[in-house]
Amino acid sequence: MTDPPSDTHFGFRTVPLDEKQALVDDVFHSVARRYDLMNDLMSAGLHRAWKDILVTRVTPFKSDRPFALLDVAGGTGDIAFRVVRAGGADVHATVCDINPDMLAVGRERAIDRDLDERVTFIEGNAEALPFPAKSFDACTIAFGIRNVPRIEAALAEAYRVLKPGGHYLCLEFSSVDVPWLDTLYDLYSFNVIPALGQVVAGDAEAYRYLVESIRKFPRPQAFAGILRAAGFRRVDGKILSGGIVALHSGWRL
Ligand SMILES: C[S@@+](CC[C@H](N)C(=O)[O-])C[C@H]1O[C@@H](n2cnc3c(N)ncnc32)[C@H](O)[C@@H]1O
Repeated sequence: MTDPPSDTHFGFRTVPLDEKQALVDDVFHSVARRYDLMNDLMSAGLHRAWKDILVTRVTPFKSDRPFALLDVAGGTGDIAFRVVRAGGADVHATVCDINPDMLAVGRERAIDRDLDERVTFIEGNAEALPFPAKSFDACTIAFGIRNVPRIEAALAEAYRVLKPGGHYLCLEFSSVDVPWLDTLYDLYSFNVIPALGQVVAGDAEAYRYLVESIRKFPRPQAFAGILRAAGFRRVDGKILSGGIVALHSGWRL
């Protein structure tokens, strides 16, 4: 039997597995207040389209039937707001995130949007979700999974809290394989994004980490295997925007 790995990646650095979460927490503590603005600037607004595509796959009930969404690593609430708006009056979303600063921004945004009755913000770790088994109809995670030190633990937890028949959807940066676009994308990611991070959020390092962590995330085929190993069935992946992003889907059957 092989020992479980004791090291992992924090961007391009190899760090002890137990130290990664604190480093990730520092990143989001530092950028929380500028996080949403940076998303718009970095992606020229494209992150909104990617999130909308994710939400169309969640298909919350339009009728009065209750529907419970869990958005893990949900940060400032983007996915949760979209899902409750897309569904009927009994759609409720729970945002679970490890970072209180991101959650604080999310709560303020929910109040501004008059959605604070329909979206609940809870501090918690994706690797040990603070919810009973079989409590959610769908579980989403957008641009979050690559930040979690133990991806397999996070998937096992998502599986546990989903009801049988529940849908897991993971939106994550992927690998650009289109000639020219890959070179352009690398130039942009490693030069423009950290510089933008410095000017807008006062933290180039945080955005250097985000760019590097994208390169270290498993490719879609490999991630599909990890989803299957966690128990998900009917696993599929959809490549968006030339591979900049992939939408992974699996079901608890
Ligand atoms: C790039 S942000 C994504 C936020 C949001 N989902 C979005 O798409 O705008 C990543 C989020 O993952 C959260 N996160 C990192 N590690 C986590 C963990 N172990 N458990 C829960 N959330 C985590 C961070 O605090 C941060 O809010």
